[in-house]
Amino acid sequence: MKSLNIGMIGYGFMAKAHSNAYLTVNNFFKLNHRPVLKAVCARNEEAVRAFADTWGYESVETDWRKLVARDDIDAIDVCVPNNLHKEIAIAAATAGKMILCEKPIAMNAAEGEEMCAAVEKAGVPNIVWYNYRRVPAVTHAKNIVDSGNLGRIFHYRANFLQDWTIAEDLPQGGNALWRLDVKAAGSGVTGDLLAHCIDTAIWLNGGIKDVSAMTETFVKQRMHTETGKVEEVGIDDACAFLCHFNNGSLGLFESTRYARGHKALYTFEINGEHASIRWDLHDLHRLEYFDHRVEGPMRGWRSIHVSDSDHPYMSNWWVPGLNIGYEHSFVHQVADFIKGIESGQPAAPTFRDALETQKVCDAVLESGKSRCWVDVP
Ligand SMILES: NC(=O)c1ccc[n+]([C@@H]2O[C@H](COP(=O)([O-])OP(=O)(O)OC[C@H]3O[C@@H](n4cnc5c(N)ncnc54)[C@H](O)[C@@H]3O)[C@@H](O)[C@H]2O)c1
Repeated sequence: MKSLNIGMIGYGFMAKAHSNAYLTVNNFFKLNHRPVLKAVCARNEEAVRAFADTWGYESVETDWRKLVARDDIDAIDVCVPNNLHKEIAIAAATAGKMILCEKPIAMNAAEGEEMCAAVEKAGVPNIVWYNYRRVPAVTHAKNIVDSGNLGRIFHYRANFLQDWTIAEDLPQGGNALWRLDVKAAGSGVTGDLLAHCIDTAIWLNGGIKDVSAMTETFVKQRMHTETGKVEEVGIDDACAFLCHFNNGSLGLFESTRYARGHKALYTFEINGEHASIRWDLHDLHRLEYFDHRVEGPMRGWRSIHVSDSDHPYMSNWWVPGLNIGYEHSFVHQVADFIKGIESGQPAAPTFRDALETQKVCDAVLESGKSRCWVDVP
């Protein structure tokens, strides 16, 4: 068993999800590498030490440049706000480190291009954490689509709805609320939530040709935590867009943080000539399936509990019929990343794959501003 020494940057939400995955993966997947929690980095030394103690990191750093320069680190995990992804990833690639970068890959496609160039020049393994691909029911959907079972695809529909930014006195900037600050996030729901929907859609249904979008910022000014001043809000609070896929199907996407009652409602539905499938993050182990070829009155939607041993990833877990959850998608991603290193066949989405999603996000934001259809380059 070889060690894979992890250098984690950030100690927030995703740093927890990833640390849990590194600690868990070898208990359930047969691999020749074991992730070792070598060091975690953030600017607040007391807070980062507490995180290191909780999760068992061997050491801490308060400057990510020092972490990237360390000889005892094999892979850098980028779990910080989007405005830092590019600089860290390029420095890590230049230092010859593998990189596991959170999504969206960057603030925009131009930054993403630079990151792709850096990892490809350095020849280092790289991946972006579009983890929903590795929810077993979503992977099962991919297998069904790839088998041709649905026939010609007509429609792809996705939503990602939340309700946590409705209060007008919620500030922007700083810890956790960096998502409301365009300088840290790059965009609002488009890069934060729709990017997930777009990544899954491209994976399941192929590339997106052009988009027509509508964006809205409902609360136009918010106090900025770092400057102490009331500042313009530069992010999209809500975004809906139409698109054409390269395969001729039509797409309809909606995301908002103003859908009262919804906390993280990610759903998608695909309608094909013979069959349809739909998935809902709130019931993430189920895949709903309708097959028009079933004759007679028993025809109808069926709900597949994706927990059997012949379902994706499930033979690694408990006995058939028992659920796994959100956190397991990250464990699967680590397992696939390591298998990619070992087989020489990189796990997706690589930086280059994730750049496709970023290009769609850029086109969506441009269309929202121009009120015109925009081609995805
Ligand atoms: N894959 C997913 O489903 C998913 C979910 C949430 C967030 N994300 C992405 O993960 C990234 C992090 O999001 P989060 O929710 O974990 O955010 P968070 O606010 O919970 O954590 C961000 C962390 O970055 C640290 N940080 C900020 N500036 C830093 C610096 N200069 N040096 C070192 N550390 C610094 C903060 O201290 C904090 O620990 C973002 O890119 C986000 O889009 C992905």
